Amino acid sequence: MPRDTKVPADELQRAANELRDDWHTGRAVDFEEAVAFHESLPKSKRFAPVLESADAPLLQPRAGVPCLEAQIDLLRYLQEEGGADLLPTTIDSYTRDNQYEKAEEGLAASRNSDSDELNGFPAVNHGVEDCRRLVRALDAPIEVRHGTPDARLLAMVTLAGGFQSFEGGPISYNIPYTKRHDLATTIEHWQFVDRLCGAYTERGVTINREPFGPLTGTLVPPCIAIAVMLIEGQLAATQGVRSVTLGYGQVGNLVQDVAALRALRKLGEEYLPDPVTVTTVFHEWMGGFPPDEARANGVISLGGATAAVAKPDKVITKSAQEFQGVPTKEANAAGLRTTRQLIDMMIEQDIDLGGIDDEQRLIERATRALIEAIERAGDGDVARGVVAAFDSGEMDVPFAPSDAAAGAVLPARDDDGRVRIFNFADLALPDDIKEIHKAKLGERAQTEGRDQSFRMVADDVDAISDGKLIGRPTGHRGGASDAD
Ligand code: 5AD
Repeated sequence: MPRDTKVPADELQRAANELRDDWHTGRAVDFEEAVAFHESLPKSKRFAPVLESADAPLLQPRAGVPCLEAQIDLLRYLQEEGGADLLPTTIDSYTRDNQYEKAEEGLAASRNSDSDELNGFPAVNHGVEDCRRLVRALDAPIEVRHGTPDARLLAMVTLAGGFQSFEGGPISYNIPYTKRHDLATTIEHWQFVDRLCGAYTERGVTINREPFGPLTGTLVPPCIAIAVMLIEGQLAATQGVRSVTLGYGQVGNLVQDVAALRALRKLGEEYLPDPVTVTTVFHEWMGGFPPDEARANGVISLGGATAAVAKPDKVITKSAQEFQGVPTKEANAAGLRTTRQLIDMMIEQDIDLGGIDDEQRLIERATRALIEAIERAGDGDVARGVVAAFDSGEMDVPFAPSDAAAGAVLPARDDDGRVRIFNFADLALPDDIKEIHKAKLGERAQTEGRDQSFRMVADDVDAISDGKLIGRPTGHRGGASDAD
């Protein structure tokens, strides 16, 4: 069972030596020489200082193609034509599954044709030197964005390659992403990643870490997402990480989203130890998008408007082509510009929305209850506690594919479109909070003249892609109007 304690230097060394042989590029990783490479980088490429000193939300897209030159061209385009402040490199699915042979075949096939045979940049196969070519070619900080449960070799290669930010975490890249990875083992793997980031940090090269806030991207109640962020932030801090960006995915109700982002920042500052600089990232809607690009731009715009009010440190943008998968570079850049337009038009407005404080208090109270349950389950140790709490269902994530989570909690929207919990299963929330959720969902059931049921949950999952926020029965509200 993992413990939330710092990985000893000899253990880090031993694990790193073993990993070197998983793929030949691992052998080129030399920590001392990598520190020197990072020290040679200008300020404009240093992730943590750029993010932490920004005075308005910075914009970052997702983007990854297999070949190096094409990745350089793509990122240049997103910076020049999209106005991206921070750049990504999205890693392909084979690498996320540690299938480097298959990634190699996909890379070779992509080099020999005009089409991309991988859905991202296989950074382990490219190796340290090609990662550095990418970092040298671009004048902005670049983050590794992926979805890898065991990201140890990916971290070794990319950090040596000059990347200064690394997305993911043991819960957020396990529970929503994979069925069979054991949570305890995933925590140990991420303690290695975080310790490696800590080792660079101790040498003066701050590596930013970004737990993945949206989780399954499907109606995740804010208290659950924030609790996961706080646990992952704490685990990273123990390993010496000093720059943590906590994430949150848009649910689409403006008041709830602003309240959740404020709660995330406040609780992050409270729960993470003092030497850690906490920043926040807002993900534009991660659920199903409308197929119609004009409508998809509406979803993106609501994200931009939310960001203008909540003022997170960073926004991960979407494109109007989200429905069809990986976007063209033009659509990706357009998503950045649409978001920018909303933020620039709205950020200086003093917008007074009712109900934010009450919603924030509710989110904070529920989040604290979950964290307390996790701490209790681990006798004060959050690494042990989070494994035990997921096992008992006291902690859970809706729609999670992982065997490590019950996936029994079900969310639904209330009459105002805020995400509430319809089925609590064994989730460790106090009765008075459960009553509030039940009452809110009761109001909606009454409005719609139907019982609370799984049908409501399913309708909500499809609502935004169908052009609405709340999955009302057909014919209800928003249909043909009686008015002249
Ligand atoms: N380039 C751009 N976006 C990507 N996504 C996944 N892979 C890539 C890529 N290579 C995006 C999806 C979705 C999110 C989870 O990541 O389009 O928005």
